Amino acid sequence: MTTTARAHTNIALIKYWGKRNANLILPYTSSVSLTLDDFYTDTTVAFDSDLTADTFVLDGNPQPAPKVSAFLDLVRAQAKLNQFARVTSVNHVPTAAGLASSASAYAALALAASRDAGLSLSSLELSRLARRGSGSASRSIFGGLAIWHRGEDDLTSFAEALPETRLPLRMVVVMVDAGPKPVSSRQLMANTVATSPYFSAWVENNEQAAGEMVNALATADFTRVGELTEQSSARMHAAIFASAPAFTYFQPATLQVWHAVQTMRAQGIPAYATMDAGPNVKILTLAPAVEAVKAALPEFQDRLLVAGPGPATKVLEEA
Ligand code: DP6
Repeated sequence: MTTTARAHTNIALIKYWGKRNANLILPYTSSVSLTLDDFYTDTTVAFDSDLTADTFVLDGNPQPAPKVSAFLDLVRAQAKLNQFARVTSVNHVPTAAGLASSASAYAALALAASRDAGLSLSSLELSRLARRGSGSASRSIFGGLAIWHRGEDDLTSFAEALPETRLPLRMVVVMVDAGPKPVSSRQLMANTVATSPYFSAWVENNEQAAGEMVNALATADFTRVGELTEQSSARMHAAIFASAPAFTYFQPATLQVWHAVQTMRAQGIPAYATMDAGPNVKILTLAPAVEAVKAALPEFQDRLLVAGPGPATKVLEEA
């Protein structure tokens, strides 16, 4: 059999940064995200008794497959299946957006592989499975807004959909630099946990912020949603900066955009900045303000992308 699934990437409003258990990928805090419409991964999986090893082709290029194989092992164990698989993935992320993320990759792989192996997992079970590939993938199983509950163990750490908000949320992505990451986020995350004296403060504050975010979204309080979004990102990057050795993803242009967002707000434009494991800035705003946000970034006109809420992970084809 051959199964193809599509998963969209997500951007965290309340960030995930730090693992309590690296093998199970259990996070220190809950996180809240928005799945985006324009950026997604299509993955095809075919378990086949004729294969002598797993194979993985990404955007047409054969890749070494240790991480994909380790993930398929989880699926094989659950399905009691003893076959290798052919995995083919295509990333539909505008070239150089710097958004090609492990979130859409492992969400698509979780659905395609589990279905092809004959499993019929609930969204909750799929979220737990995707989490084992990459933490943020647990949230990409769902469309729109999702919360990943930190949980206590493998069974209780999963994401679920949040009620649809009345806010017409949009993300304006500013591509500051599309080059490869200088440091892998997984490694840096572990180093922040191990060496940043600010990490415990981050954990305490961010868990509380996740709860507040759920309320702010439910009451459609965009100012509070924006403040919490910007603070979660700023505090995550502060904890990273305070690691040993000190490190930051900020580049000069990152800071330039960050300042521009503050100026937008001073002018009454609803806009809040958030950053992930890279120098690009995502500006959270509302649909009616998108043009004003874009106009306030004259130097970045050719490096802007606008995304809205995207759909849940789904099966595209089974043959
Ligand atoms: C900064 O989910 O990529 O984007 O679990 O090690 O695969 P692993 O990490 P990953 O980390 C995402 C970190 C972040 C914040 C977020 O998406 O919540």
